[in-house]
Amino acid sequence: MPSTTATIALAFAFATTVLCDYLGPTYPAPTDLATNGSHVSAAWRNLSSTLDGYIADPSANLTSPAGLKNVTFSVGMFSINDPSAAALQFHHTSAEISNSTSGLRKVDGDSIYRVASITKLITTLAGMLNLKTSDWDRPITEFVPTLAAYAAAHPAADDRTGTVDWSKVTLAALASQIAGTPRDVSPYDPSDYLLLDPTGALAASFGLPPVDPSDPVAVPPCLISLLEGNTSCPSDQFAIGAEARPPLFLPWTSPAYTDYGFMLLGAAIANITSRSFHDVYRESIFEPLGMRSTYSNIPDPSQYGRYVIPGNVSTAGLTPEGAPEVTIPSGGILSTTNDLAKLGTAILNSTLLNADQTRQWMKPVSHTAMFEYSVGKPWEIYRYTHPRSGLVTDLYTKLGDSGYYSGYLVLIPDYDAGFSIIMASSLPQRTALVSLLADIVTEAVLPGLTSQAEAEASENFVGTYTSQDDNLNSTLTLAILPTGKPGLVMTQFISNGTDVLQSGAIDTGPVRLLHSITDRPNGRIAFRATHTATPSGGLFSRGLNANYDWLAGDSPTYGGIGLGLFVFDVDSNGNATAVSPEAWRVKLVKS
Ligand SMILES: *[C@@H]1O[C@H](CO)[C@@H](O)[C@H](O)[C@H]1NC(C)=O
Ligand SMILES: *[C@@H]1O[C@H](CO)[C@@H](O)[C@H](O)[C@H]1NC(C)=O
Ligand SMILES: *[C@@H]1O[C@H](CO)[C@@H](O)[C@H](O)[C@H]1NC(C)=O
Ligand SMILES: *[C@@H]1O[C@H](CO)[C@@H](O)[C@H](O)[C@H]1NC(C)=O
Ligand SMILES: *[C@@H]1O[C@H](CO)[C@@H](O)[C@H](O)[C@H]1NC(C)=O
Ligand SMILES: *[C@@H]1O[C@H](CO)[C@@H](O)[C@H](O)[C@H]1NC(C)=O
Ligand SMILES: *[C@@H]1O[C@H](CO)[C@@H](O)[C@H](O)[C@H]1NC(C)=O
Ligand SMILES: *[C@@H]1O[C@H](CO)[C@@H](O)[C@H](O)[C@H]1NC(C)=O
Ligand SMILES: *[C@@H]1O[C@H](CO)[C@@H](O)[C@H](O)[C@H]1NC(C)=O
Ligand SMILES: *[C@@H]1O[C@H](CO)[C@@H](O)[C@H](O)[C@H]1NC(C)=O
Ligand SMILES: *[C@@H]1O[C@H](CO)[C@@H](O)[C@H](O)[C@H]1NC(C)=O
Ligand SMILES: *[C@@H]1O[C@H](CO)[C@@H](O)[C@H](O)[C@H]1NC(C)=O
Repeated sequence: MPSTTATIALAFAFATTVLCDYLGPTYPAPTDLATNGSHVSAAWRNLSSTLDGYIADPSANLTSPAGLKNVTFSVGMFSINDPSAAALQFHHTSAEISNSTSGLRKVDGDSIYRVASITKLITTLAGMLNLKTSDWDRPITEFVPTLAAYAAAHPAADDRTGTVDWSKVTLAALASQIAGTPRDVSPYDPSDYLLLDPTGALAASFGLPPVDPSDPVAVPPCLISLLEGNTSCPSDQFAIGAEARPPLFLPWTSPAYTDYGFMLLGAAIANITSRSFHDVYRESIFEPLGMRSTYSNIPDPSQYGRYVIPGNVSTAGLTPEGAPEVTIPSGGILSTTNDLAKLGTAILNSTLLNADQTRQWMKPVSHTAMFEYSVGKPWEIYRYTHPRSGLVTDLYTKLGDSGYYSGYLVLIPDYDAGFSIIMASSLPQRTALVSLLADIVTEAVLPGLTSQAEAEASENFVGTYTSQDDNLNSTLTLAILPTGKPGLVMTQFISNGTDVLQSGAIDTGPVRLLHSITDRPNGRIAFRATHTATPSGGLFSRGLNANYDWLAGDSPTYGGIGLGLFVFDVDSNGNATAVSPEAWRVKLVKS
């Protein structure tokens, strides 16, 4: 087969697996996650026994699920609609920790792990709570004098490939991982070969020449000070190691992970608020949310008994060598499963930011080269495709991985829920195992949440709704078809004696209604009809015929109201009592 044909066939196969409904959930978010009857708690029990099985597996393969027995980890759910979901937890203590000579010996929901780069999410939230919207468009040169001086003396226009235009590096670009600036900066660069082997032997084995010791890019002031035992490294001194580094990209070109970007963001937040970032974290996040076991400062040794410490505090990286203050906004925060549940719940429930800011924040800023992975501010957004329906659910996540600690915070706005994973181990397989565990949890929890949302929708919306006016022959019947596409399917819609489904007014195929707006305080939940999609053809053709809802969501209308708008009256339990097909200007009562 010619390769172009194969490519096209593959692309079409891929496209047809994805259900091109509106972006977002099919049904309102589930409200019962934790009772025994919930599909979510059933999925959690299943997950727990699956994990018990892996832990009991004697295999010595550390990159298979059996390797999970060799690492210590805590997993926990949360939901804004069901606070008891936070009791769905799983903890495993490996021999390394149960036998540890420092720190605790058995993990639970209050065990403190270093959450490493999950810190970047907390730093960004701290910024959103304390900065003006316009501050995000200010360049880092307004806050770090070293970079301002460098930018003034070295116009990037003279050398685009060799010089970062620091005056164009905005706080928004840094927070969105798209500034194109250096990833890590000496002396806190875990991948610099000069630092990995200061003898130069490793570098020589690669054919790399010795560096000039007077070159501040190679040997910056903070490195010299650190070698002399001075662990202080103010952000403007640290910046000397970064200022002359070549850019990876021009700003806003391609997202690329940088730790240093969040050290700069932390410095800017401290400057703008005239407070230390420790105070900013504590006063604007930890204290308001009651995150009483979450810290940005180095723990006092008398407290080590609350911490998960593989090896000792230095090998674990609990207190990184020299405890460099400047790196904390990138990866220094310490927290627990219970506190991460409070944080995740608060973000999803708009406890600190308002709901409009939250929805705007939880969107991608850029794609990556991988279809199922986009980047926000600083969300790492995975796109999960449900195997049966092809529905796509976006997971807003942040990874942490530093020292002997790894973890994920995962928020699922479509279900008002999420989960955290925190892990500790001296084994280098830890990083692969935390992603494997996130895959395992996702494969268990996402189907559970989907089934529960569908079961609640079935309970609350399925049924027959009729006019209370004896002179009006109007009836709407809704069903959920277990083997069909998801959504409330209209099996009958008679309006004033006319069979609307036969008339083709809304659509020709089975008409499905999808959740659009939940307004529980006012007892109203809106759904919209989706257009029948038959994906076919090339890229642009599929954009037209498969992704039609986004193009034509609110049309056609009658007298200014979309024919596809169906608004339910719901009681305080979320149970529908009536539906208004709004364009028909009628209310039909559930029987
Ligand atoms: C839920 O299930 C667990 C385990 O099967 C059982 O111990 C518990 O009593 C059940 N709770 C209720 C309220 O049924
Ligand atoms: C439990 O998990 C297995 C495999 O992980 C899956 O096949 C099964 O459907 C799950 N059962 C429930 C009730 O979620
Ligand atoms: C270890 O497990 C992984 C994942 O299951 C597998 O790909 C790999 O081949 C296994 N390694 C060995 C040595 O069996
Ligand atoms: C993994 O755990 C098993 C069971 O505790 C133990 O026998 C094995 O030595 C551990 N492997 C490593 C590399 O720690
Ligand atoms: C979410 O916010 C609502 C409204 O402010 C509040 O009533 C509810 O208790 C919150 N849920 C959780 C789990 O905090
Ligand atoms: C626990 O520590 C003791 C003393 O250091 C050692 O003899 C033993 O092998 C360790 N056990 C495990 C399971 O690592
Ligand atoms: C420690 O090193 C930093 C970075 O080079 C420097 O700014 C600071 O003055 C030094 N402190 C002392 C006490 O020498
Ligand atoms: C913020 O940075 C500017 C520019 O470097 C500096 O003039 C100002 O003093 C700093 N403010 C604080 C509170 O650190
Ligand atoms: C921590 O452990 C490492 C490696 O075992 C050892 O070299 C170091 O001396 C220990 N540090 C402390 C403070 O115990
Ligand atoms: C129902 O149909 C009748 C007869 O066609 C018409 O006169 C009447 O206006 C209609 N009423 C409504 C509410 O649509
Ligand atoms: C209502 O209209 C439908 C569709 O035209 C018709 O089949 C049905 O008999 C009517 N019912 C009554 C009570 O008139
Ligand atoms: C939901 O509402 C319908 C109709 O109003 C009613 O028959 C049913 O009992 C209600 N279900 C619950 C669980 O309240």
